[in-house]
Amino acid sequence: MSNKKILVLPGDGIGNEVMAEVLKIIDWLSKTRSMSFEISERLVGGTAYDKEGDSISDETMQEALDADAVLFGAVGGPQWDNVEREKRPEAALLRLRKELDLFANLRPAVVFDALAEASPLKLNLVKGLDILILRELTSGVYFGQPRGVSKINDDEEKAIDTQSYTTSEITRITRVAFDLAKLRDNKVTSVEKSNVMETGMFWKNTVSNIHQKEFQDVELFHMLADNCAMQLVRNPKQFDVILTDNLFGDLLSDIAAMLTGSLGMLPSASLGPIAENGSRAAMYEPVHGSAPDIAGQGKANPLAMIMSFAMMLKYSFNMQEDSVLVENAVQAVLSKGLRTADISDGADKIVSTQDMGKAVIEELNNLSGS
Ligand code: IPM
Ligand code: MG
Repeated sequence: MSNKKILVLPGDGIGNEVMAEVLKIIDWLSKTRSMSFEISERLVGGTAYDKEGDSISDETMQEALDADAVLFGAVGGPQWDNVEREKRPEAALLRLRKELDLFANLRPAVVFDALAEASPLKLNLVKGLDILILRELTSGVYFGQPRGVSKINDDEEKAIDTQSYTTSEITRITRVAFDLAKLRDNKVTSVEKSNVMETGMFWKNTVSNIHQKEFQDVELFHMLADNCAMQLVRNPKQFDVILTDNLFGDLLSDIAAMLTGSLGMLPSASLGPIAENGSRAAMYEPVHGSAPDIAGQGKANPLAMIMSFAMMLKYSFNMQEDSVLVENAVQAVLSKGLRTADISDGADKIVSTQDMGKAVIEELNNLSGS
């Protein structure tokens, strides 16, 4: 029996409500499984800024480095809009990504049968959809230097962000893409803007090189990012794994999320490199944000957060069976017609965040016969 250290960072807005439901599931698993979890909880985001003077303290950062995995809720809110950039809620997220070296961001977009009707797209386009967006998360325009605003003359200023990628930054995410594709439909679509950007052409050539040398057994397609955005709503089932950079991945994963009916359904895993002892830093978070407009009202959908935890079981703890059990419990709840407001199409009974969490636990009991 081993102890797995999880650092829990609920953050701001609905982060707290959805995290509370996951904690109940972790508790359920600790009672029924031979794995025990050591949970510690800390502030992050605007809440941390208000109480600790920074959106992530050095102590919290150190705990994240020491943990086996980090479970992250959401950060941000209008009350922190004017906070300086380095202390903004989002800066905590970027610091975690960078210092844990979480370069591989997995954002699966899966349409559950019971929810296919909730998608804004036609049923036949999304029924059975199962795609994976793999987003590079620690480089590109999010981190490139130089950046900033400078003065040109008394009337003019200039703002710069830098899009930059090195060979090794692209090759390591490319290998993850091909490895993941092998476990799925064996197809990778690499997405960039090689028609206008130096980094785009460089990305495309680097991916092709790795494909040529190491992964000829996997199908590779290249697609321009604007076309990919269009194809995602025209015919999303043509994709298996979409491999792309930090900024395009941010945009395309929001589109992909909506195909599943709601941002409230999309989990994610952010993984670091595998160390010599086999360990790897990892953080799991729902793709939805802190949704300050509905925070504290029991309206938030906890399923993306719950499925992010299912990804933790799978990718960090090698607990495949338990991961599938949690996913099946979520599917079962949806099949019974339970809906939070975001995924209700009017006809269904709308339940609160807490009732949705409770229903998942009930299904866990049913499915495991306990
Ligand atoms: C995401 C979010 C973040 C990003 C924000 C909150 C900094 O939109 O994880 O997709 O842009 O990466
Ligand atoms: Mg985003």
